[in-house]
Amino acid sequence: MEVFSCKTKIYSGAGAVQALENMHGKRLFLVTDPFFMENGVARQVAQASGAEYVEYFSDVQPDPTVALAAEGTAKLKAFSPDLIVALGGGSAMDCAKAMAYFAKLECPLVAIPTTSGSGSEVTDFAILTHEKVKHPLVDARLRPDVAILDSDLLQALPKSLIADTGFDVLTHALEAYVAKNAGVISDSFAREAFSAAYANLPASYAGRQEVRLKVHLAATMAGVAFSQAGLGLCHAMAHALGGLFHVPHGRLNAILLPAVISCNAHVAGAKYAQLARLSGLGGSADTIALRNLKNGLIRLRRELGLPETLSQAGVSPREVWANTGEIVKATLADPCCKTNPMIVEDFLVRRILEEVTGHA
Ligand SMILES: NC(=O)c1ccc[n+]([C@@H]2O[C@H](COP(=O)([O-])OP(=O)(O)OC[C@H]3O[C@@H](n4cnc5c(N)ncnc54)[C@H](O)[C@@H]3O)[C@@H](O)[C@H]2O)c1
Ligand SMILES: [Fe+2]
Repeated sequence: MEVFSCKTKIYSGAGAVQALENMHGKRLFLVTDPFFMENGVARQVAQASGAEYVEYFSDVQPDPTVALAAEGTAKLKAFSPDLIVALGGGSAMDCAKAMAYFAKLECPLVAIPTTSGSGSEVTDFAILTHEKVKHPLVDARLRPDVAILDSDLLQALPKSLIADTGFDVLTHALEAYVAKNAGVISDSFAREAFSAAYANLPASYAGRQEVRLKVHLAATMAGVAFSQAGLGLCHAMAHALGGLFHVPHGRLNAILLPAVISCNAHVAGAKYAQLARLSGLGGSADTIALRNLKNGLIRLRRELGLPETLSQAGVSPREVWANTGEIVKATLADPCCKTNPMIVEDFLVRRILEEVTGHA
């Protein structure tokens, strides 16, 4: 049985932020990070809503902590809004989603992503960090009511952010496509997301504004796919490593993904091959298509200036070795492992870790 639920109303296009007016909020609580507070975008968004009273919570840092979400929850309750807006990347959206969930308020949550990556604007997930461990909260009540995909917010995206978040999109689509809970509907979102992201990321990275909305939509479609189908080992390991070493989430996925594909190939080879052919990587035999997919991702990773190993991402092999036990434990405990197409065992995680550690 396939279960697919739709909840989030999606507005997309240049200037889509104007749709905030339709929410008729009088008391707006806006969650963002210092970058959008300082550059004035948070105020412009608040103005677009037409709200009379606005409170900003702009302390969100990458990989928000449980303590920060608790602090925000108290402020949210005290303000008692009739509209909550999350403006920013996955970190700001996850923090706002967790705050709204803990506060148990009956008001709508609007997510406005400013990176084309996490897909958090449409997912049932919010990821909080506590004592160097990333904890994915998973609950249907976390899913935003409205998502606004405004390409005007993407004009000044730094190249490294395009690369990091772009690989997050590819990983979401690819893991969702082969995940244990994948079905016909989630597959259609995963396929479209993967091929659109794979085709358009180089141009977006090169500065071509006209493809940014395509990658933004791919990020949301990948979010729809994985929210239904689940993720896999790549995300479980990225969460474990991200909690400890604070390397950007998408960058960790980029480092891990080729190794995870090889590991899952025994059971998911045919579906990987379908994605390869769909993305123009060809290969009539599944084994060839699979190899082309892996090589295509490695080439793209290089083209986007991303590291190939943890060592190249600034994590010394010594740190990895010292924490191997913790990394394996956190990976196996991560809910994303449950939907990986093959059962994840201790030795598999160790083998992948060895492959991606790199040299001192
Ligand atoms: N909830 C989910 O479904 C889900 C899925 C995947 C990842 N995540 C989480 O999302 C987080 C990563 O999110 P992210 O990759 O979007 O990055 P992010 O939200 O952590 O932001 C990274 C940096 O980019 C800056 N930034 C954001 N938008 C910008 C823009 N338009 N121009 C310039 N700078 C900008 C931010 O200020 C911040 O400093 C991780 O914590 C990850 O665990 C959540
Ligand atoms: Fe992700």
